[in-house]
Amino acid sequence: MKLFVTGGAGFIGSNFILYWIKNHPEDHIINFDKLTYAGNLENLKDIEDSSSYTFIRGDIRDPKTVEQSLKGVDTVVHFAAESHVDRSIMEPAAFVETNVSGTQVLLDAALKEGVGRFHHISTDEVFGSLTLEDTSKFTEMTAYNPRSPYAASKAGSDHLVRAYYTTYGLPITITNCSNNFGPYQFPEKFIPLAITNLLEGKKVPVYGDGLYVRDWLYVEDHCRAIDLVLQKGKSGETYCVGGMGGDVNNLSVVKKILDILGEDESMIEFVKDRPGHDRRYAVDWSKTREELDWEPEHDFDEWLSKTVAWYQDHKDWWKDVKSGAYQDYYNKQYGNG
Ligand code: NAD
Ligand code: TYD
Repeated sequence: MKLFVTGGAGFIGSNFILYWIKNHPEDHIINFDKLTYAGNLENLKDIEDSSSYTFIRGDIRDPKTVEQSLKGVDTVVHFAAESHVDRSIMEPAAFVETNVSGTQVLLDAALKEGVGRFHHISTDEVFGSLTLEDTSKFTEMTAYNPRSPYAASKAGSDHLVRAYYTTYGLPITITNCSNNFGPYQFPEKFIPLAITNLLEGKKVPVYGDGLYVRDWLYVEDHCRAIDLVLQKGKSGETYCVGGMGGDVNNLSVVKKILDILGEDESMIEFVKDRPGHDRRYAVDWSKTREELDWEPEHDFDEWLSKTVAWYQDHKDWWKDVKSGAYQDYYNKQYGNG
């Protein structure tokens, strides 16, 4: 099988490519990535010379390059996106351009080239926000209610993907997953930002009261879910993918990281809240378990410790990433922290 992976130099995309080459060595992967600030080919240096792997630098918004690159492809796995909520609040336009227009360009090309499956990676954030008191979770049937420019642009892309299935018969599947964590995550996101700040002797910025809740999914569990959707998922269907643990709020996440690193709570700094901050996400993944025999296998506490160890062992990787333009972003978002 020939897979066309967009955004394969980013966090989840690179984990997915490493996972796929290990588990499906007979397949060929094309990694199509623009290499924005979030794309890093270092993530893939172990497989860059593999005969199962080709890298193409390209922009999903560019129909000509996309069409040329899609020739002979069986399956598209679409990760490429602008992915950070805080950046979407600063500069929403790029989110509409990449996440909505870029997805539409890809869908057109996939249709034209007759690909057998277009799998779209989406987020639980399209469903909006739960309260801390809610007992229900997000399911595949939950109505869309995106509340940040990021979530709105992902919702737009999901709608387009479904519209291409209904209108043109393009075979599609969608996964809406919760917050991923693990190796190679860009340190603008909460967990790697907390870990790397502490490793640099800096405090961890916690937004608002810190009682916001996310549903943490280890990235390898996510990759396995996508694998099963590609093998057994039904065209036109959506599958929710979430983590193992119950509710863990941001303050508890930081305290766990402080414990692992032997630091104390003086390293927490409460900062101005994010506008429109979603209080809580929780994902019901029972359809994915029942139809695909998938469930998360990586426990949050154990794999958080392993993730901390990964960042301790890969200082060159994140020190490189945190230099240059990252500092400008950090100062803009957090002041001179
Ligand atoms: P990321 O920001 O780490 O990586 C995004 C990748 O896309 C980068 O390699 C970047 O260079 C590439 N890219 C961006 N614009 C592009 C363009 N115009 N053309 C080609 N490539 C482009 O993102 P991530 O965290 O790995 O997320 C991957 C996908 O998963 C996204 O669609 C995101 O919305 C979704 N998602 C992520 C999470 C999470 O916790 N990280 C949770 C739910 C859903
Ligand atoms: P993030 O990793 O940005 O993911 P998302 O907003 O897409 O869920 O943030 C996870 C949670 O951590 C979210 O509630 C916002 C919070 N947060 C902080 O408290 N401080 C920070 O510096 C960042 C980046 C996030």
